Amino acid sequence: LRALKRVVQLGTIGAIGYAAYDIYNKRHPFEQKSFDPTKRTIVLLGTGWGAISFLKKLNTDDYNVVGINVKRFLSVLADVVISPRNYFLFTPLLPSCTVGTIELRSIMEPIRFITRHKSRNVKFFESECTDIDPESKTISITDVSDIKGAVSNSTIPYDYLVVAIGADNQTFGMAGVREYACFLKEIWDAQKIRTRLMDCVESAGFASQPPEEVNRLLHMVVVGGGPTGVEYAAELHDFLKDDLELWYPELADKLKITLVEALPNVLPMFSSQLIQYTERTFKQNKIEVMTKTMVKEVADKEIKVLKANNEMVTIPYGLLVWATGNCPRPLARKLMARIKEGQTSPRGLLIDDYMRVVGAQDMYAIGDCAFSRYAPTAQVATQQGKYLANIFESLARIEEGQNKKIAPFEYTHQGSLAYIGSDKAVADLPFLNGNVSVGGVATYVFWRSVYISYMFSFRNKFLVLGDWTKSKVFGRDVSRE
Ligand code: FAD
Ligand code: NAI
Repeated sequence: LRALKRVVQLGTIGAIGYAAYDIYNKRHPFEQKSFDPTKRTIVLLGTGWGAISFLKKLNTDDYNVVGINVKRFLSVLADVVISPRNYFLFTPLLPSCTVGTIELRSIMEPIRFITRHKSRNVKFFESECTDIDPESKTISITDVSDIKGAVSNSTIPYDYLVVAIGADNQTFGMAGVREYACFLKEIWDAQKIRTRLMDCVESAGFASQPPEEVNRLLHMVVVGGGPTGVEYAAELHDFLKDDLELWYPELADKLKITLVEALPNVLPMFSSQLIQYTERTFKQNKIEVMTKTMVKEVADKEIKVLKANNEMVTIPYGLLVWATGNCPRPLARKLMARIKEGQTSPRGLLIDDYMRVVGAQDMYAIGDCAFSRYAPTAQVATQQGKYLANIFESLARIEEGQNKKIAPFEYTHQGSLAYIGSDKAVADLPFLNGNVSVGGVATYVFWRSVYISYMFSFRNKFLVLGDWTKSKVFGRDVSRE
């Protein structure tokens, strides 16, 4: 007991120390070295998982020392980061934002909080990269925000380009999806879902609304039984049980959640035991799971689905959330078409085991925009980002004359986790040489602690913990923005 007390004491002191250091550090950024024209420039596209883990790990101090020697050597580097959003988004908690369990800004980390803490000044342009020219080693950027200055287009040269632009939402080119459905990838998607959800509920409660229209408006349909679709359906269920039943008692029993999945089961990447557990939990929570069912048409108020028995069924909906996976962004497609040589995969930029884009010079790709043998997850993107930063460091050491071997990238899988509603989560975790599958309330506590520990800053951890406490104590906010 005494040992346990000691561990708790030390843990508390450690946590307070970490928090104090993080707060101080955030409020007192140090003097940065300025842009050095004698050094080479890495242009980094994106502010997602891949880009930020790369940027955080990249040792600009080291490179600076190398760079002082000779210009023609690999020396750094003033980094340029280009992204249409000026923050990092902690995507694993995005489904919680669609119903207000967590507030949007709690899972956003401004990019300046990161760039300002690098030893050398990092330029950041909030803009979209519209073209990459591997021949002239330049990229074109455009300011896509509402407010523009006198200049809103520019061309930036690079010595090294790191492409970490993530992926687009897969729609299979189906008409109506982009027009009528909501995706769940970006912060504005979660905001749109939250607003539309409350709009549906309020419209269903409108004076003399016909019963069939009430049922349509309160039918929330999720397409795609991967982790995004499952976690969203789970959060929606919790919102219904914990809050809507309290504040809209006359409507709550009419709200229905349906999950449509083309494959025979949801969460195909999880073990069969956890798939069954998830499907059982969904059944208990009255979430209808339509497996072996493929969406074929999308209209403004209904979708048409094809069932395994070849029956075409029309499903009216109030809110449609589309989560059928990833496809390459237009910029990645354009680049693949330009490079041609070796870019044979329609699923993304083909890279080798050192993150080099096949067929291009001095160009690297990490995360969801790259096609490799790994799944498009934050775990993979993070490890690739760190690995690439290490590569740059090793190259610098080699240029200095040190003997360094560059090993190919090796991914270490740390397990898969998903929230399935009613304070339950599922987890497939690697253990010894095998796998442990667990599900339930304890796994949910584990799920929460894992994600809190993965957040990059104390500020985000603090905000998310506050949001969880707030929604438990006061309930979620049902006002429509
Ligand atoms: P992203 O994080 O998508 O970042 C891409 C960046 O590129 C963005 O900053 C974007 O603004 C920028 N960009 C896009 N186009 C351009 C352009 N033309 N020019 C410049 N910049 C551009 N994975 C897990 O491992 N665990 C989870 O629990 C998990 N949960 C998830 C939950 C949800 C709801 C979603 C949608 C995904 C989840 N993922 C999870 C997957 C994970 O989020 C992605 O694999 C990860 O974000 C990929 O990182 P990335 O850096 O490649 O791309
Ligand atoms: P996904 O690719 O994992 O799943 C999409 C699902 O949609 C598939 O099961 C597919 O069969 C289904 N589908 C496709 N077309 C359909 C149609 N027309 N009708 C019905 N169903 C259809 O996509 P998701 O969930 O967006 O995840 C993307 C990536 O992000 C994955 O790699 C995933 O592992 C990762 N991720 C991980 C999370 C976690 O670890 N908790 C959470 C969210 C995403």
